Amino acid sequence: MWEKVKSAPVAISFEDIIVLPGFSEVEPFDIDTTTRFSRNIKLSIPLVSAPMDFVSNDKVASILAAMGGIGVIHRNCSIDEQLKIVRRVKECDVYKDIPSIKPDYTLRDTISYLKKLEEKVALIIDDNNTIGIVKLCTLSGSVRVSELTTISEVLDEVRKEQTVSKLININEDNILIEMYSNTVGLKPSLDSDEKLMVAAACSPFDYSRLKVLNDAADAIVIDVAHFHTKACMEAVKRIESEITADLIIGNIGTYNAVKDALSKLEKVDGFRVGIGSGSICKTGEETGVSAPTLFAIIEAKNALRELSMDIPLVADGGVTSVASALKALVLGADSIMCGRYLAGCLECPGPLLEIEGRKYKLYRGMGSLTARLERLLDRYSRTTKLISEGVEALVPYQGSVIEVIHKFVGSLKVAMGYAGAKNISEVRNARIALLTPNTRKEIAPHSVIKIDSEMFWELLKKQ
Ligand code: XMP
Repeated sequence: MWEKVKSAPVAISFEDIIVLPGFSEVEPFDIDTTTRFSRNIKLSIPLVSAPMDFVSNDKVASILAAMGGIGVIHRNCSIDEQLKIVRRVKECDVYKDIPSIKPDYTLRDTISYLKKLEEKVALIIDDNNTIGIVKLCTLSGSVRVSELTTISEVLDEVRKEQTVSKLININEDNILIEMYSNTVGLKPSLDSDEKLMVAAACSPFDYSRLKVLNDAADAIVIDVAHFHTKACMEAVKRIESEITADLIIGNIGTYNAVKDALSKLEKVDGFRVGIGSGSICKTGEETGVSAPTLFAIIEAKNALRELSMDIPLVADGGVTSVASALKALVLGADSIMCGRYLAGCLECPGPLLEIEGRKYKLYRGMGSLTARLERLLDRYSRTTKLISEGVEALVPYQGSVIEVIHKFVGSLKVAMGYAGAKNISEVRNARIALLTPNTRKEIAPHSVIKIDSEMFWELLKKQ
């Protein structure tokens, strides 16, 4: 038995490593985040929404695809309902259904547009590409410009100065616009008919759903907690020849799972990797079995290397920051699937709650008791399973998903710059180091009494 212990691999987590700085030749502006979701689906940004009922609805999936990522529509509903959500993404008109403006809008047009929609944030779209976002805000210390200045004039200034944002004071009412352009050149994820791309989650045992969604979506994401079973493999084997959309297999967490899947299945266009790391998961705690996301990426990547196969990996679970996303990319992931990172957004399906003056949204695991109660055929609650494998939760409200995605891209570009990579394939060359508990403390703010920016500002102004 000691041999088993001595030869055990280390199940590293996001908090166990750091990425080391690397020689960088480019500014964050010029960094390219293009990647792949699956064999045939290219993305401008490596961000994918998790198929969870409090995350991936048509709004989140449409905005994500418009900004270069892709949403996976959950299956915690009838086939008809899931199909409707997928269709709504396909029918989405970026200029009508998503808060968005064109670069020739004046600042005055932009303000009245946002006010009419009662929105605070909108995409700036030029010739189908996202070139930035505008945001109504209330900070001071801005540059004063005319109301008739156009969005593209401001963006030109921002780019010339190599900054990522500009704060503009428009009129006497102190209306301010914050404008960012670090999303320059993000291409929407479009199919061959120029419609937004979308993926759909399906159980391998739900043949009717698979058939219907295969015709409507660009990718099918097999949605089981533990794919590496005889029953799952046989179920996919039976239907794989009928699947014309890209087929992403998961979840898997080990070298053997990749090898077995590839020896038995003909059609594998991607792997969804990671078991038990999700913010709302309790599989690992309840069962003692899990394959944390970073560990799962390493295992899957090793198997693919050995087979000389290049199949994209979707890292799934536990990514709550750009720092974690970067680590997953460095170790071999091609895209990052997020539940918690997006769940606090305005557009997500859960209600917006206010508790003791703070705003929250509801979020839950798809194996939680309440989610299981709401469905018949699912990934965590088959009759053989007696336990809940997920929890119900609150997450802090984060505002518009446009802003959250925008921050993700901006911060990822900065992170890639530090790592010395100008694109995703170069990220793989970055070095990593293992952390000690002391380093972990040292690399976060420490030895000070932290206060929030607003309080700091107030205190400074009083002096
Ligand atoms: P994050 O950390 O982004 O994780 O919130 C999202 C991923 O967690 C998985 N998931 C679950 N895992 N029990 C689990 O063990 C659950 O109830 C559950 N619900 C979701 C899933 O892979 C998702 O993408």
